[in-house]
Amino acid sequence: MANVRFYSGDTVPLEMHKVRIVQKLNFMPIERRLEAMREAGNNTFLLRNRDIFLDMLTDSGTNAMSDNQLAAMIQADDSYAGSETFYKLDNKIKEIFGKQFFLPAHQGRACEHILAQTFVKPGSIVPMNYHFTTTKSHIVLKGGKVEEILIDEGLNVNSEHPFKGNIDIDKLKALIQEHGTDKIAFVRLEAGTNLIGGQPFSLENMIEVRKVCDEYGLMIILDASLLADNLYFIKQREEKCKNMSIREITRAMSDLSDIIYFSARKLGCARGGGMCLNSKKLYLKIRELVPLYEGFLTYGGMSVREIEAIAVGLEETMDEDMINQGPQFIAYMTEELKKRGVPVVTPPGGLGCHLNAMEFVNHIPQQQYPAGALGAALFIVSGIRGMERGTISEQRDENGNETFANMELLRLALPRRVFTLSQVKYAVDRISWLYQNRSLIGGLTFVDEPKILRFFFGILTTVNDWQDKLVAKFKEDFGDSL
Ligand code: F0G
Repeated sequence: MANVRFYSGDTVPLEMHKVRIVQKLNFMPIERRLEAMREAGNNTFLLRNRDIFLDMLTDSGTNAMSDNQLAAMIQADDSYAGSETFYKLDNKIKEIFGKQFFLPAHQGRACEHILAQTFVKPGSIVPMNYHFTTTKSHIVLKGGKVEEILIDEGLNVNSEHPFKGNIDIDKLKALIQEHGTDKIAFVRLEAGTNLIGGQPFSLENMIEVRKVCDEYGLMIILDASLLADNLYFIKQREEKCKNMSIREITRAMSDLSDIIYFSARKLGCARGGGMCLNSKKLYLKIRELVPLYEGFLTYGGMSVREIEAIAVGLEETMDEDMINQGPQFIAYMTEELKKRGVPVVTPPGGLGCHLNAMEFVNHIPQQQYPAGALGAALFIVSGIRGMERGTISEQRDENGNETFANMELLRLALPRRVFTLSQVKYAVDRISWLYQNRSLIGGLTFVDEPKILRFFFGILTTVNDWQDKLVAKFKEDFGDSL
């Protein structure tokens, strides 16, 4: 992407790629969208693609692949053991991260499963900037506890702090002193911190975390799933890194980490995942579990075609013109919404544009899931599918009480290289309309509530007939227009 100044004076994000394969979209009338949302139990995970216009659920496995990735996939070397394709990725990992050992897994959470099995025991503490849903579930399942030691600005949706994903060094030291080093399994750093709005941490903060970990002999595990966005923000926002290349920043971050794992559904624009490290001792320990849960060491549950695509995708990630596409579209969307008074998470992060539901629908109590309700309403009025990242994405505590989320967000992901600027403008328009009519949005309540990761399969209903009223107002304003 290039932010280009137009003759009109506007600065517009301009795509640095051309589209050569397209997929036709469906655009259903509002009556069908309402029906589809009801069939899905007001849960956007349960919608079917045929009813969706713009799928902003996630960037996971939905990024557009490049011509070079597709070409590489055709050349894949299929073999249970010893595939040449695997060694291509192995070499790319060595080259980019400077780590000697690579272990494949079928996606990010598979790495989390194996790492939790290897390092977490009942009573273990895992400090981190912020949890991700699957990460926390794997740690808790092994009897461990997640401790979030993010800087205070991280949870302030309107803060302009450039690195809201930073760890608070004093909180880290206090936690170590409170529990002692033996109890701490490792310190986890999540790049492009997902659940707080795709917010980065700085290289400087990582250096500080490393110093503390060295002092106490603790290991740093970097979740690099959203590394591309974090790299872009370090280069943009961190004065000391302005003259470093993306490759140099990557290498610096890698050198500060003991183990790196990633979801290649995000990093590398393909599907799959893996872990890399330099310690032979730890490698041998982790290695035992890969064939057991994932598959033989030279495929780890991935198809060789995807492995080829990851190797090329990682190389493309080292190109600033490629990794800035997501963040620049997100910044455009966030700024346009802000101009129209819509509450959004700032500064714009990676992954997607995040609506602040706590403020957008501040008349809906957290017990009635404001972010989930906003997600259902937005789909009905636009055909845009977002993802609830609020209380529905949390789990009830041991006594069955709700754990209210720190933030109620509706995430609108912008998978890399997928949408056009006019589609982003359409999203801005319908969200602004919805904001003007926000008083019509009402709450949700569970009809069927799974115990674990309830946001995936939970079925909800509306607390009254607010959705019919919303549809009526839409028709009044837009007539027969979609
Ligand atoms: N870590 C982070 C930071 C993630 O965002 C994800 C997935 C994972 C780990 C797990 O990886 O899906 O390959 O198993 N995030 C997806 C999302 C699901 O929609 O944000 P996975």
